[in-house]
Amino acid sequence: MDYDNRETVLSVKDLVVKFTLRGQELTAIRGVSLDLYKGESLAIVGESGSGKSVFTKSFIGLLDANGRVDSGEILYKGKNIAAYKSEKDWLTIRGREIAMVFQDPMTSLSPLKTIGKQILEAVTLHRGLKGKEAKDCVIDILNDVGISNPEQRYSQYPHEFSGGMRQRVVIAISIACNPNILICDEPTTALDVTIQAQILDLLKKLQAKYRLTIIYITHDLGVVANVADRIAVMYSGDIVEVGLCDEVFYNPQHPYTWALLSSLPQLGVKGEPLYSIKGTPPNLFMEIKGDAFAVRNPTPLEIDFVERPPYFPVSPTHIARTWLLDPRAPQVEKPPLIQTISQRRGKGADYA
Ligand SMILES: Nc1ncnc2c1ncn2[C@@H]1O[C@H](COP(=O)(O)OP(=O)(O)O)[C@@H](O)[C@H]1O
Ligand SMILES: [Mg+2]
Repeated sequence: MDYDNRETVLSVKDLVVKFTLRGQELTAIRGVSLDLYKGESLAIVGESGSGKSVFTKSFIGLLDANGRVDSGEILYKGKNIAAYKSEKDWLTIRGREIAMVFQDPMTSLSPLKTIGKQILEAVTLHRGLKGKEAKDCVIDILNDVGISNPEQRYSQYPHEFSGGMRQRVVIAISIACNPNILICDEPTTALDVTIQAQILDLLKKLQAKYRLTIIYITHDLGVVANVADRIAVMYSGDIVEVGLCDEVFYNPQHPYTWALLSSLPQLGVKGEPLYSIKGTPPNLFMEIKGDAFAVRNPTPLEIDFVERPPYFPVSPTHIARTWLLDPRAPQVEKPPLIQTISQRRGKGADYA
């Protein structure tokens, strides 16, 4: 991925997403901006409940019925799709422009139709193919996603496939729709480690062949080093840091990113207990003042409790929303473990 000549495919500006629950309002996404670049693979990382799924579901009009985009824009091909209201509008985007692969493949597969038929429907609808041509295309895609004996597998039902194979079928259906952007929402979380690695490899291969832009969602920072060009760190409905994979691993700026990295088992010191982040994320029903991580941050600044920080640039490809980057901020030492990681820079990807 060449970031000097990057081209924006999707641009999110100040997005606010709210839900109404038992008459009360909850803010799940709190004014997030993000540009997605053509052909990249961007990982969105953050603990469970930080808003990764809600954020990306808003790109395809799949927010739950009690949710809505309250303000902000999602610009795609010159249109603000955040303003789309009808299912008819969303059908011009969902699947054919932006497709999503979910954690549990069974939510996207019909148990009553053969997998061949399910992929065939997508090929017919989105690629305008018919008859033998359409069927050949399905067989090609099954091959591409690594399903052996595709002719035979074609007439089988989802229950005849293993979890990993089902996830391949779901990926095949997404590919059949010929999307520009593929969002993979924790696609391997339910799978065992070996299968996980295979699916990640598969996505990499498909990305090159079909020139996809991929958003890869995970709560596991350890996984992303292998898949992502860029990492966006999400905390409490906000993206607090974005940078190239190396920048986020070796030169992290936000205290939450420090905490996330410190809790990676791969970085732990043998014989010492694993670092865990103290406290709990803020209540999203309440207004959050200042930096949402301040109350859990072991070394907060006074201003962290008062005013929300803006994004400060660290490099042309790296930004972080922390007052520590303000020129007026006092010098705060990074935790020792994080300093050690920084020193490892250039010595190979040993965080993976
Ligand atoms: N339909 C809904 N109604 C109320 N709150 C919701 C709804 N869907 C998601 N949320 C809340 O939005 C926040 C972000 O959720 P989500 O995006 O699913 O997190 P993640 O994918 O990072 O685990 C969570 O606090 C969650 O409880
Ligand atoms: Mg999620």
